[in-house]
Amino acid sequence: MVQGRKMKMILLLIIQIVMAATAANVTYDHRALVIDGKRKVLISGSIHYPRSTPEMWPDLIQKSKDGGLDVIETYVFWSGHEPEKNKYNFEGRYDLVKFVKLVEEAGLYVHLRIGPYVCAEWNYGGFPVWLHFVPGIKFRTDNEPFKEEMQRFTTKIVDLMKQEKLYASQGGPIILSQIENEYGNIDSAYGAAAKSYIKWSASMALSLDTGVPWNMCQQADAPDPMINTCNGFYCDQFTPNSNNKPKMWTENWSGWFLGFGDPSPYRPVQDLAFAVARFYQRGGTFQNYYMYHGGTNFDRTSGGPLISTSYDYDAPIDEYGLLRQPKWGHLRDLHKAIKLCEDALIATDPTITSLGSNLEAAVYKTSSGSCAAFLANVGTKSDANVSFNGKSYHLPAWSVSILPDCKNVAFNTAKINSATESTAYARQSLKPDGGSSAELGSQWSYIKEPIGISKADAFLKPGLLEQINTTADKSDYLWYSLRMDIKGDETFLDEGSKAVLHIESLGQVVYAFINGKLAGSGHGKQKISLDIPINLVAGKNTVDLLSVTVGLANYGAFFDLVGAGITGPVTLKSAKGGSSIDLASQQWTYQVGLKGEDTGLATKDSSEWVSKSPLPTKQPLIWYKTTFDAPSGSEPVAIDFTGTGKGIAWVNGQSIGRYWPTSIAGNGGCTDSCDYRGSYRANKCLKNCGKPSQTLYHVPRSWLKQSGNTLVLFEEMGGDPTQISFGTKQTGSNLCLMVSQSHPPPVDTWTFDSKISNRNRTRPVLSLQCPVSTQVITSIKFASFGTPQGTCGSFTRGSCNSSRSLSLVQKACIGSRSCNIEVSTRVFGEPCRGVVKSLAVEASCS
Ligand code: GAL
Repeated sequence: MVQGRKMKMILLLIIQIVMAATAANVTYDHRALVIDGKRKVLISGSIHYPRSTPEMWPDLIQKSKDGGLDVIETYVFWSGHEPEKNKYNFEGRYDLVKFVKLVEEAGLYVHLRIGPYVCAEWNYGGFPVWLHFVPGIKFRTDNEPFKEEMQRFTTKIVDLMKQEKLYASQGGPIILSQIENEYGNIDSAYGAAAKSYIKWSASMALSLDTGVPWNMCQQADAPDPMINTCNGFYCDQFTPNSNNKPKMWTENWSGWFLGFGDPSPYRPVQDLAFAVARFYQRGGTFQNYYMYHGGTNFDRTSGGPLISTSYDYDAPIDEYGLLRQPKWGHLRDLHKAIKLCEDALIATDPTITSLGSNLEAAVYKTSSGSCAAFLANVGTKSDANVSFNGKSYHLPAWSVSILPDCKNVAFNTAKINSATESTAYARQSLKPDGGSSAELGSQWSYIKEPIGISKADAFLKPGLLEQINTTADKSDYLWYSLRMDIKGDETFLDEGSKAVLHIESLGQVVYAFINGKLAGSGHGKQKISLDIPINLVAGKNTVDLLSVTVGLANYGAFFDLVGAGITGPVTLKSAKGGSSIDLASQQWTYQVGLKGEDTGLATKDSSEWVSKSPLPTKQPLIWYKTTFDAPSGSEPVAIDFTGTGKGIAWVNGQSIGRYWPTSIAGNGGCTDSCDYRGSYRANKCLKNCGKPSQTLYHVPRSWLKQSGNTLVLFEEMGGDPTQISFGTKQTGSNLCLMVSQSHPPPVDTWTFDSKISNRNRTRPVLSLQCPVSTQVITSIKFASFGTPQGTCGSFTRGSCNSSRSLSLVQKACIGSRSCNIEVSTRVFGEPCRGVVKSLAVEASCS
């Protein structure tokens, strides 16, 4: 007995010693997060685990690590983890513990942003919709029922992380947690209660005793010791609310989200790199890309409303998990350059001096002799040559040069050393005989969804109901149905002149069926107003209105109360004017969801599928089903929904999200090439105007078998599913890059040894590498050393060109996966004296 107790004590002691050895002490001071007594310069990137699959996580995390990240930042998605009160889900894409452990295995840290309000273009900002029905609840304010639920969920997550020993204080990877999210942006709308709510949030979080610091983003009044952090396209001007807190940036928007009906936003990497470099130049030590991998809004998880299913975000890793080049590569180089400055950066505040108008130097100099400098040109128009410590430096407009030894340039944000690679959708014919669409069409079966009320749980109510309160978001769909008797009322029955049905809705889509026929439809974010000319008959008429939500609001004060659905007025007017009948106040019949949702057409087998031809197409409200073979290879899979209208799709029972290829981006605001110089805004750089916002929809490979996969879709507006194509997303085979004589040499060759650097590091190099390891460079489509013009894909020779350009590049590159060519007259000869020359190359791999 005594022996047993002794053994136990020894064991406990051993555990404590091991724990002490692995547990990290995370604190902070004015300069940085401090891990085990050492200040850290950290580079972080957001990956939201439910926006990809557990099978994708290891690769995404590895690509993040290879890109130079130290930290993965993620929100925690309450609505996914607790879809029904007290019924938790930590499986599959919601396996948070697995995600955090994978990050740990890769040797990276985690910033866990619990929220639990997260915004994030996520349905209802991450709140489960049942929360709305808690008696007496008011969201995000000093309200007991809300605080109780918020505390319960936050505690649940913290306890789970503790149980799994995932906090750094326990030896795990989590070095920082966030409570709330950007409340400071909207708190004035909540009056005095906002102050007490934020104080309560802070002390509630602290009481959970995670052993690591907490942050609040966009919260200038964050109480000590919460670190208030910055979100935005730039945060170099930000200062935390206490001199004892480090300057941290929790969301640097690497691009922007896409909305249905909108053109695609993108953010040039030169500007993104500029923003990052400016932040570290101005004393920052922690920066996070929102997003580093954006991913996909599967199922009905997108918020908004009207946020697309793709959450690509123009992030360094694209929606499908492929590297976006040169964005990923240029940022990787930037991270290396920043890390070369780490010793100096953490030691001191920068000394900032002006080098002329719009020109700024920041120097970090330590007593032990390290010195790092950042030289910035914040002008938007003119490049500059600046003199710094007696040397001259070329600074393009809107750029920062990083000098890890205060002498040599390791990196300039506007000078890209990484090649551009395009990605392409490769359509695959899925049948061995190359199945034409007609053949494929014969493999489709269908079920018509009844128009109007068809389910037993339909109910009657006088007046028009708000949709979220009625459906509790169990479905996107709500039927509003009315039977009217038109008794010889000539005004509404006049031949040739139709009656007009006026409908007003809070969104997002309305289909109006009169006597079983689609009479009109419309969509809008928060307001739809329709005047639909209709034909009525003498006697009984039916008005069936199908209202469809496309994601619930996720942002703004009181976003939870904006509402949706047909709240009226709804009136029937005679076309000639004069009489009008108010329909809003009548007795309506309601049906939440579709019959096909209740019978589980997406996930279960049904004997109702009809496979005899002809397949009905271009008709509203039809369920379609087909089987298909997985596209060959291992590349990510996408379905092109062109030809269909709008709806939801499932592959092997998994919802791949809402599709809507007929949602067309407006015509304004797009530019072929967007000038990266000058302040970025979400609508500064747009592409894809006048085209469908999203045609391709990601199907994770792990959801597919080799053959016999089922695709089910519910088509709302009418389309032709036989036009759907399956394919893979591939890194294109083209590489191109232009490197000038004024580019810094590759950052990988950096050395602090000045002797070596003088010999080998002085010249820039153009490096190419085929993205796929089995590929080699097979042809050089363009090569010119001199003054080549244009951009990737459209290079032309300038007046100055070395005649050896093509043969030299061919010799260096063809037949190899990668090649490096020094950009200098030593290699190419001198085609024109006194001019800064560039080498532009376009190559293809196969
Ligand atoms: C921020 C918010 C994020 C996300 C982002 C836009 O304001 O904190 O959750 O919504 O905007 O993508």
